[in-house]
Amino acid sequence: MDIRRVGVIGAGTMGNGIAHVFARSGFDVLLCDVEQRFLDRALDTIGKSLDREVAKNKISADDKAQALSRIQPVTDRGHLTDCDFVIEAATEKFEIKADIFRDIDRLTRPDVILASNTSSISITRLAALTRRPERVIGMHFFNPVPVMKLVEVIRGLATSQETFATVRDLSVKLDKTPVEVNDAPGFVSNRVLMPLLNEAMFAVMEGVATPEAVDEVFKLGMAHPMGPLTLADFIGLDVCLDIMRVLHSGLGDSKYRPCPLLIKMVDAGWLGRKSGRGFYKY
Ligand SMILES: NC(=O)c1ccc[n+]([C@@H]2O[C@H](COP(=O)([O-])OP(=O)(O)OC[C@H]3O[C@@H](n4cnc5c(N)ncnc54)[C@H](O)[C@@H]3O)[C@@H](O)[C@H]2O)c1
Repeated sequence: MDIRRVGVIGAGTMGNGIAHVFARSGFDVLLCDVEQRFLDRALDTIGKSLDREVAKNKISADDKAQALSRIQPVTDRGHLTDCDFVIEAATEKFEIKADIFRDIDRLTRPDVILASNTSSISITRLAALTRRPERVIGMHFFNPVPVMKLVEVIRGLATSQETFATVRDLSVKLDKTPVEVNDAPGFVSNRVLMPLLNEAMFAVMEGVATPEAVDEVFKLGMAHPMGPLTLADFIGLDVCLDIMRVLHSGLGDSKYRPCPLLIKMVDAGWLGRKSGRGFYKY
């Protein structure tokens, strides 16, 4: 099927980046969120990040104008009926995504692929809510979406080879590099990354080293662009905790237990960069 018109549900950090890359690659985009103010904020963010691409000579001012003109903001999911592909990037809560998947399954043509950008929710479980589990797939972009090359393409238990191949090819059209992964808690990215961040937190909690020292070890010794505690603050400590809980309950191994210091910091409202305080003060 020829994909021209793409629905993006959720216009937050990831949704606006996803709308940006689809529009920049020539797709018509319907960007859907629950309130107009979220859509206004998303369009503002997309405009500014396209400006940065113009300033770096990656695209022309005309490309920017064309990309913006391809994005239509909508608050009513009913407008997604004639989309050829839909990707959901709404808040990471199963009930919210379940409601969206049931609804878009009803609204869109049966041959349309429904993707989720979820970081941790089971693709197999979302697929089972629809009448087309073979056309449900994970398309996991990374933040900031216009910059990061990776897309983890996640096969649910029922995802067909045709669906996988379409989404793999679509990722390439967006100038991304798809990597194939099977559905499992945390996929590959978070299953490997989050225990690293969690262990760095244990090292701080146990007084092995300060956050600065742990980060320095990873920057200078492992050539990581940022240390694990700076990265945890950037991702959001509440998000890190949620993902550790998904790994712990989904894989059932005590090695995934969230660090008590992480739990305490989230309880205190220290969520990292976005709240002004995490392992560092902002
Ligand atoms: N932030 C990251 O680094 C990152 C990276 C990869 C994947 N993800 C995943 O992407 C998804 C979105 O994360 P985010 O960081 O963009 O969150 P966010 O909070 O920035 O944005 C979520 C948006 O979804 C909207 N929303 C909620 N319910 C909705 C509904 N019923 N219909 C339409 N819109 C709705 C919210 O209003 C909000 O604008 C999550 O599943 C998350 O796990 C996030």
